[in-house]
Amino acid sequence: MDSHLETAGPVLDLPVADLLDGQPAFGSPHDFRRALELGAFLARIPTAVDVGPGLTFCKSYFLPRTDSGDRYRGHRNQGHSLSKLGYEDRPDQVEQLQLENHTWPEYLPQDVLVTLAAMRRLTISILNATLDHVGAAVDDRRAITGADRADGASWCHTTMNHYRTALAGRPGIFEHKDSGFITLIYSDGPGLEIFHDGEWKRAEYRSDCFTVNYGASLGVLTENLPNPVTAVLHRVPEIDPHGPQHDRSSFTVYLGPDYDSDLLTYAPDGGLVPFANFRDFSLEQARKQRYEFHARL
Ligand SMILES: [Fe+2]
Repeated sequence: MDSHLETAGPVLDLPVADLLDGQPAFGSPHDFRRALELGAFLARIPTAVDVGPGLTFCKSYFLPRTDSGDRYRGHRNQGHSLSKLGYEDRPDQVEQLQLENHTWPEYLPQDVLVTLAAMRRLTISILNATLDHVGAAVDDRRAITGADRADGASWCHTTMNHYRTALAGRPGIFEHKDSGFITLIYSDGPGLEIFHDGEWKRAEYRSDCFTVNYGASLGVLTENLPNPVTAVLHRVPEIDPHGPQHDRSSFTVYLGPDYDSDLLTYAPDGGLVPFANFRDFSLEQARKQRYEFHARL
């Protein structure tokens, strides 16, 4: 399958959930199953969560810093030595700043930190609800998500995406599956496409919703369960500088296994067994999908 630039045809309607105390509540009992089958759904943003600071940061972090205390700008050259991820100038239109949650207080403005912390709590709740729905035993959770953390999540980072429309002739972001369990996304417009039933489709966009993407680690974990989760194959085609969006912005919170831990899977007999070291798995994913793997990981 090539990473082609043309825009996909049909719109793919996604199930929509309210987040009640962080728990996804779908309109119909079939919608959660459909979300697992698609590998994606929309989650209404709770009124207490303000995504504005995240978008403001996405639209400014790549600009030159105006003074030494300016945390909204200057991140192309900052270095981010506490992070194993940091800034990346990618070969597609998007440039990214990726920061693990333990580094957020060091590098991000306070209001962005508040937004991301709220999104992280929601993402943990959605992951736990998903594990409930597929039948993962509560006693298995610490082994699945990270043995050292009581809050149900081990590795967490944000990705701040800036799609540079001046870089014409490139896809927005190459097609890929996220490697972790789950990614919570907010974007300032449409553009996300999902490969479904043999063709690329434009994912439904709603400005009042996050998009939830399920990743390869959940796919591996659940592939032998009665309700397996699809790791959604997705991409963003080239953003047209003459289109309505100009530069596109999106930001995400990602949860996945620790890179030093084993990715687990439920065997056909129901036992929870190691599938692969997660760093090795991620390297293989990156190789297949023609990504550079983070050199510091
Ligand atoms: Fe992704």
